[in-house]
Amino acid sequence: MLRSVGATRGTISRRLNQSVQLFLKLMLGRRARTRYVLAFTERSTLRKAINLVISEISRRTKQKVLRSYPSLMLIDVTTACNLQCPFCKTGTKRRGRNPAVLHMADYVRLLEEIGKYLYTILFYLDGEPVLNPRLPEFIKLAADRGVFTSTSSNATLITPAVANGLVTAGLDHISLSIDGTTQEVYEIYRRGGKLEDALRGLRNLVEAKRSHGSSKPYIEWQFIVFRHNEHQLAEARTLAKRLGADGFEAIAAYVEDEAWMPKDPQFRQEVWHGDTQTAVNCRWPYSNLVVHADGAVSSCCWTYYEPFDFGHIRDIQQGGFRILWNNSNFRSSRGLIDLDYDVPRPHACGPAKICQLCREGVQPYSLTLAEANEIVPPELRARKPGPETHQLNVIS
Ligand SMILES: C[S@@+](CC[C@H](N)C(=O)[O-])C[C@H]1O[C@@H](n2cnc3c(N)ncnc32)[C@H](O)[C@@H]1O
Ligand code: SF4
Ligand code: SF4
Repeated sequence: MLRSVGATRGTISRRLNQSVQLFLKLMLGRRARTRYVLAFTERSTLRKAINLVISEISRRTKQKVLRSYPSLMLIDVTTACNLQCPFCKTGTKRRGRNPAVLHMADYVRLLEEIGKYLYTILFYLDGEPVLNPRLPEFIKLAADRGVFTSTSSNATLITPAVANGLVTAGLDHISLSIDGTTQEVYEIYRRGGKLEDALRGLRNLVEAKRSHGSSKPYIEWQFIVFRHNEHQLAEARTLAKRLGADGFEAIAAYVEDEAWMPKDPQFRQEVWHGDTQTAVNCRWPYSNLVVHADGAVSSCCWTYYEPFDFGHIRDIQQGGFRILWNNSNFRSSRGLIDLDYDVPRPHACGPAKICQLCREGVQPYSLTLAEANEIVPPELRARKPGPETHQLNVIS
């Protein structure tokens, strides 16, 4: 009985997602990511909707100080990873962030303040989330508050026990990063990984859902399209279906070398050559919050380096979340973002200069640690709270 209810809900979710995607494609000419469609269709409340509308009005009217809260949070539970993917700063062990695991008490405090406004929490950023054994606890706390939960994993470490933990925690969605259908092709990007381990991880999740009679999590095979693997795209899609994945998503790769760029124009993304400086019509500092595993907060998931941190979640201990959300870094970032795409802006000083260098995130992620240090000198950086005492970024 339980199993058939789970299966029926799964089918309804998939059908609803397909209908919304078709509608968006017809109306806007593009699809939305499945996890956002599911979060919207399954977890909307009046409070969340009103909050989202207020944040969009604030963006359009160029407000720097917000009364609204984030609708989406990306939070990293660990910076550790077992693979060495070539364009990932963790995989290539580039210096710039110290290893960390998320502090439970800090997370709970944050969730208490902003959980009711959040449509979605994405539990990943720089590391492999399942390496943190407390991942199911983090997920359950959010799920119990009605937040849609999602994560992304390379799938190679999803044992039956890990899969059971994710299913029983109530995880709603998971992306499994598997970019090939043969070991030779797969390991070109997923260095150090075994395709058979990743496929076993997928099977373990499918089996855990089946044994618990659960329709969740929605399992999405994520295929990052590079030159070396684009010929396997169709085969991967077929394999994903055969192994029981609920969905398949092919995404454009971030690359730092033209040789990796796929031929298919649909998946080509510009490589930055350090030539342009363009502000972008960006939503991140208005409706999204990015929290690193050490508790540091950034404007978006493209900033990576510590000099670009905007503050720390412990800043909310004194004065609440708005103190952090409207600190000088966030205000500066909102002030640098232009509503008109492709409007070159002159250099300006300010701690959030990162946003000024940005065009769709690609430039900030391309920077080296030395460049990050040069852009944000020590006197402009967010102060790190220590374990006992910490200072707030004072609103001026
Ligand atoms: C840094 S990973 C952390 C999560 C997990 N370790 C994983 O790989 O799925 C965050 C996301 O970035 C994606 N990613 C990694 N390298 C990428 C690239 N070159 N271009 C686009 N996305 C990439 C991953 O597949 C994953 O969905
Ligand atoms: S598996 Fe994820 S975190 Fe690990 S190196 Fe690859 S992209 Fe980075
Ligand atoms: S760095 Fe770019 S993507 Fe990130 S918040 Fe600033 S403008 Fe937006």
